Amino acid sequence: MSKSNAIVIFGASGDLTRRKLMPSLYDLYRKGRLPENWRIVGVSRSEFTDDAFRAHIEGGVKEFAKATYDRKTWGEFAANVCYCQGDLTDFEQLQAVDRMLCEWENGAHGNRLYYLSIAPNLYEQAVANLGAANMVHEDHGWRRVVIEKPFGRDLASARALNNAIHKVLNESQIYRIDHYLGKETVQNLLVFRFANSLYEPVWNRNYIDHVQITAAETVDVGHRANFYDNVGVVRDMMQNHVMQLLALVATEPPTSFEAEAIRNEKAKVFQSIRPIRPENVASCTVRGQYRTYRDTEGVAPGSMTPTYAAIRYYIDNWRWQGVPFYMRSGKALAAKTTEITIFFKRPPHVMFPMQRGAQLAPNYLSICIQPDEGIQFSFQAKVPDTVAEMRTVDMSFQYEESFGALAIPEAYERLLLDVIKGDASLFTRSDAIEHSWALIDPILEGWESKQAPPLCFYESGTWGPVEADALIAHDGYHWTLGCAPEE
Ligand code: BG6
Repeated sequence: MSKSNAIVIFGASGDLTRRKLMPSLYDLYRKGRLPENWRIVGVSRSEFTDDAFRAHIEGGVKEFAKATYDRKTWGEFAANVCYCQGDLTDFEQLQAVDRMLCEWENGAHGNRLYYLSIAPNLYEQAVANLGAANMVHEDHGWRRVVIEKPFGRDLASARALNNAIHKVLNESQIYRIDHYLGKETVQNLLVFRFANSLYEPVWNRNYIDHVQITAAETVDVGHRANFYDNVGVVRDMMQNHVMQLLALVATEPPTSFEAEAIRNEKAKVFQSIRPIRPENVASCTVRGQYRTYRDTEGVAPGSMTPTYAAIRYYIDNWRWQGVPFYMRSGKALAAKTTEITIFFKRPPHVMFPMQRGAQLAPNYLSICIQPDEGIQFSFQAKVPDTVAEMRTVDMSFQYEESFGALAIPEAYERLLLDVIKGDASLFTRSDAIEHSWALIDPILEGWESKQAPPLCFYESGTWGPVEADALIAHDGYHWTLGCAPEE
């Protein structure tokens, strides 16, 4: 008989399980990608019978895997899902979960994936308890622990957490999730850069003028204010998702597609980014808050938590010296879009008749991560029936057009499957987490110092504070989105 494979979700009554994890696992099952002899065990403090838990998550699957839900497949899937009431921080209750798993494994050797979908302040204790309950030794099968973000709230806490979990787990057992890395379009960045020969020769300071990364959301903090007000946009989006995008744009070619080769190169990018010193924080960053944020229930009166940030970084290495990377992210903005825009240098000489002082528009490449997944190259074309009038036109690739409407799976699908397969390429290694915090810490410190830039307020539904436009205009640029509505 094949080894059993248990997927144990701690914090199973929460939103993430219903919205993301279960719909993804359901789709993996439907595609025949779950290993043989699998079972999902939901664990949390809430009271559920197996059936009530199944009904709870069925609602999530119907809503979030709408296009693929069907009753028969759901029935087969749900038969392998069960629930165990328990608190991961209570040692005895955890032992009861272990007994239940052992009973199912029935003395056979089994693999176990533990997913910590719990409050971040419980990670350390949770891992310690798993260790103390003897639930992570790998004598009879693998034991892997998935840890959600945020991983720490600064360098010191991230380091302390790494140290604490390394006392119990080997690095190879730890899967720190950044769901952006599971997005199809983010994975395609490596393919686009290194499976094609056209762009890589020009992917450097000689041809690239500057890079913009936008991660904009229309939603405000909604019912997450209790969490968000202690975190803010830099910890919530920049330290992880946006920094990961930057690393993939800037990385040197890894020698292979192996996890360690990719993770080594990404770590080098983080090490090469020039930290923003607290005294420069006002000239290199902008922090904003949407005007109605402080009226939200759960937000502290007079809260200074930023819901928007713009940052300019430089990368001190041979490839990127002198090329600014602008990153911005915010809530309650005009559109939901994540995009990387690469601006190439303008032609060195203008041979066309143009007005004095006029310049040719630069070529730019827009990599749309979401929601209109695709890549667009914008270049100059001659307007027909003119002498040499020019206009920017596009060559474009759309995932939906090329691969069909259902082509893009939920990010968690790929990530969960990779954990089961033991492929850590799309997960963040301990050193990368620490390097990226080391870059973010001085900004957060600067924002709490006398040198802090003002907190700039912006109206919901706009593109954020005008000060962010000024940050980039100061260098002669403006924010540009190739794939999203015009600003
Ligand atoms: C999460 C953040 O990590 O990413 C949220 O905590 C944010 O605040 C979300 O809304 C954005 O993810 P996506 O996949 O919708 O871009």
